[in-house]
Amino acid sequence: QWKAIGVVGAGSMGSMMAFAFAELGLDVSIWDVAEQNVDKITGLASKSEQQFKGKITGYKNIDEFVKSLQDRGERKLFMFSITHGEPADFVLGMIKKNLRKGDVIFDGGNEYYRRTERRQQELKPLGVSWIGMGVSGGYQSARRGPSLSPGGDKQIVQEVLPLLELYSAKDKKTGKPCVTYIGPGGSGHYVKMCHNGIEGGLLSTTCEAWAIMHKGLGMSYDEIGDVFTNWSKHGELRNNFLLEIGADICHRKKTAQGDGKGEGVDPAGGYVLDDVLDKVVQDDDNTEGTPLWSIMETALRHVSGPTLATAHYLRIASGNRSQRVRISKKLDIPEPKTLQVKDKKAFLETLRRAVYASFLSSYCQGLELIARASADEGWGVDLGKCIQIWRAGCIIQSEAIADMLQPILAQDVQIMNMKLIDEVSRDLHNNYDSLKEIVLRSTESDAYIPSLSASLEYVKYESSTMLPTQFMEAEMDYFGAHAYNKAGKPGEDPGVVQKGPHHYEWKPA
Ligand code: 6PG
Repeated sequence: QWKAIGVVGAGSMGSMMAFAFAELGLDVSIWDVAEQNVDKITGLASKSEQQFKGKITGYKNIDEFVKSLQDRGERKLFMFSITHGEPADFVLGMIKKNLRKGDVIFDGGNEYYRRTERRQQELKPLGVSWIGMGVSGGYQSARRGPSLSPGGDKQIVQEVLPLLELYSAKDKKTGKPCVTYIGPGGSGHYVKMCHNGIEGGLLSTTCEAWAIMHKGLGMSYDEIGDVFTNWSKHGELRNNFLLEIGADICHRKKTAQGDGKGEGVDPAGGYVLDDVLDKVVQDDDNTEGTPLWSIMETALRHVSGPTLATAHYLRIASGNRSQRVRISKKLDIPEPKTLQVKDKKAFLETLRRAVYASFLSSYCQGLELIARASADEGWGVDLGKCIQIWRAGCIIQSEAIADMLQPILAQDVQIMNMKLIDEVSRDLHNNYDSLKEIVLRSTESDAYIPSLSASLEYVKYESSTMLPTQFMEAEMDYFGAHAYNKAGKPGEDPGVVQKGPHHYEWKPA
């Protein structure tokens, strides 16, 4: 029933969405606050294949943009692809007067779920639906099919679902679309936030493994690329997107393709990777975004998420490059050294297993956060379906992990702790020694392993029956009369719900 769509934002994601929707037969109106973006897509559309001719119209005036949809006499459908927070509020403020009952806005940005919920409430009296939808896979997927996680009014999402199913990525094995109704409120954006938290854990683990091979084992980029290819061919890391593109990055020489402007072209054929600085910033002002929100949420909802968190702290440290450079002179910490390895093949297998354990830990943390939030908020999110939509199109796609988790999560919809799943605990157990070995060897050689070591600790402390916190509890009772539970007491150990009544007067006044 949807014949037209208004895309807000003509950046790389919005432009690609415009082409994709035009390809699906929709008339696309597109507006951007930056006029040069509108010129760019208008130019591209006019030069493009016949199928896009007249299907994509760029607007510099937002009222004319909205009118182009209004004049059709149909309910208006919008797709926002702009920066979260104020920019989204600003644009909503500009179009609000022209919104009518039945209009639908999909917000495909990475928005904080509480803001999504606020906008849903704001638009409710107008009869307008605001759907917070995660869109994953970057601009390539935005053109060819992303992974989508829409959340909000169920009936409205169901109405648009046939279109989204056509647009979304498809699972290579089953052909199933990588989109589903996630749940009410801000659940769609919440699931995308957790996807991005997991993405952080995977990205950090991958770059740590890359550096262990490059700096520790002295392997060339091409050799490392072959290892990544090998890992992603079979076993537990099979068809892992980040490893696949990692292989591509390792092999990529500077050719005439470059960025099309001459930069990135090197007749001598150096590696593109050599041009890349170690500085990863968050967004323009480095202040907020999905990785930060996922850490906040793990803390707020009492879900352990150390791999996700430390991945982001590494990123923060990387972004503060000028400070790092100054501090390096003062601290004088040794640089990563070469590892003495007798059997390189065996070591690489140990590293593969460690990477898998850390990937799986990241998945556990992200999924447990979704489970917790879903229970708290009453969203009823189906974790099996989350795995389904992450099977293609998105950044964390990892076929072997999905194959393992999806059937179990589809059966056990109540599960809160992924480590209680037999297959997960088996794999964490079986790869524990490898993870430990890599952390030990890397620590000796001063390699950077924030995520690998956080995953090791996570696996350890999440499964311990007696943590050093015994002493922490005593200290807190000493200085603050926090009170403690006693070992072996029914109701207090195990399955303690409340703090026990016991307080010891360590230092009578
Ligand atoms: C995706 C990505 C994407 C994300 C960027 C980095 O699923 O396609 O998660 O949405 O925005 O990869 O974003 P940050 O700089 O905010 O982490």
